[in-house]
Amino acid sequence: MKKSFIYGVSVSGENFTDRVEETRRLAMDFENGVNVILISPRRMGKTSLVKKVQSQINNPKIKVVYMDIYDCRSEYDFYNKFATIILKETSGKMELFLENVKQFLTRISPKISFSPDPNMDYSVSLGITSKDYSPEEILNLPEQIASKIGIHIVVCIDEFQQIGEWSDSLTVQKRMRSVWQHQQNTSYCLFGSKKHLLTNLFQSKRMPFYHFGDTIYLKPISTIDWIPFICDKFAEKGKNISEEFVKKICKTVDNHSSYVQQLAWNIMVNTDKEVTEEIFEQSVSELLAQSSPLFIQQIQGLTTYQMNLIRCLCQGIHTDFTSKAVLETYQLGSKSNISRLKKTLVEKEIIETEGEFVTLSDPVFATWFKKEYM
Ligand SMILES: Nc1ncnc2c1ncn2[C@@H]1O[C@H](COP(=O)(O)OP(=O)(O)OP(=O)(O)O)[C@@H](O)[C@H]1O
Ligand SMILES: [Mg+2]
Repeated sequence: MKKSFIYGVSVSGENFTDRVEETRRLAMDFENGVNVILISPRRMGKTSLVKKVQSQINNPKIKVVYMDIYDCRSEYDFYNKFATIILKETSGKMELFLENVKQFLTRISPKISFSPDPNMDYSVSLGITSKDYSPEEILNLPEQIASKIGIHIVVCIDEFQQIGEWSDSLTVQKRMRSVWQHQQNTSYCLFGSKKHLLTNLFQSKRMPFYHFGDTIYLKPISTIDWIPFICDKFAEKGKNISEEFVKKICKTVDNHSSYVQQLAWNIMVNTDKEVTEEIFEQSVSELLAQSSPLFIQQIQGLTTYQMNLIRCLCQGIHTDFTSKAVLETYQLGSKSNISRLKKTLVEKEIIETEGEFVTLSDPVFATWFKKEYM
């Protein structure tokens, strides 16, 4: 059976629903050369949205370039990827690529490897080092190309939080910002997962990327939009799911995009003709079992105090942890301990904080934790 619901990878075409408003806004930003920062909890649909807008823009004067920098371990790792992808995407054919390398990066000689399959892409290693080019020269490459060929380039950088991990990250961020903010023919869309790292990069006044662009917080897809999406996919397979059950799916996983699709898929597999309460419950148990290895890994090594704070959140207490009653009931240690607990759990991506208000990041984690540890 062709998979009706897709989760865990970015989605497009018939697997992409709604996001009309966000698609429009992002497309407007791209078309008008506005820099964008896109933030959301994990697996909500950032990559899918950016790729959708990329595929939708058909103005030949605008080139949207997508890159994922998750595997870039250092500044020059990044510059190599940045330069390679920008040159490749603006050149297309390999002959033109080589010509452009000659024109824009005269001081290096790239290594090219061909795939035996003629339809497949060629792969390139530019091998740029700090001896060949300064960071500023590479950061200016898209602007140079854009003005030379008379287009506007939108550079979309996924997993942007990675730059926070490099040594001397702050200096690099300052360099990027100071070069990018003056560019006329290039704009940027910066996004990624790990909300706390991104928040730190973009929302702290002390940081170079503070107020760099239009900040979009990607909200969950609403239940109203999931209803036709899920009902139609069941109908296509000759099965039936009531609106009530779709609402229940959304509620169970807090409209978390990836989990909505995963739970819907579990239900579809278990359903012959009509979804029932029993099938629903069975499918939720399967979802917990599927997620459990990751959750076990997440809580490995947590201290009793940290586990107790999670228990406290599972009981619906989200603030005022330093009150005597809460400290005692949940055994959270001393008052001064609380901020340390929060910091560690935020870094482990188990919780999120909004001012003094604390929530668990993952709705399925909450259900799983209650079942296993309470
Ligand atoms: N517009 C959408 N319509 C339907 N499902 C979606 C949509 N956007 C995201 N999803 C679901 O969420 C999953 C994750 O999407 P995507 O990889 O785009 O999210 P992300 O925010 O980039 O995730 P990560 O934080 O891991 O980078 C998809 O596999 C799909 O199941
Ligand atoms: Mg992503």
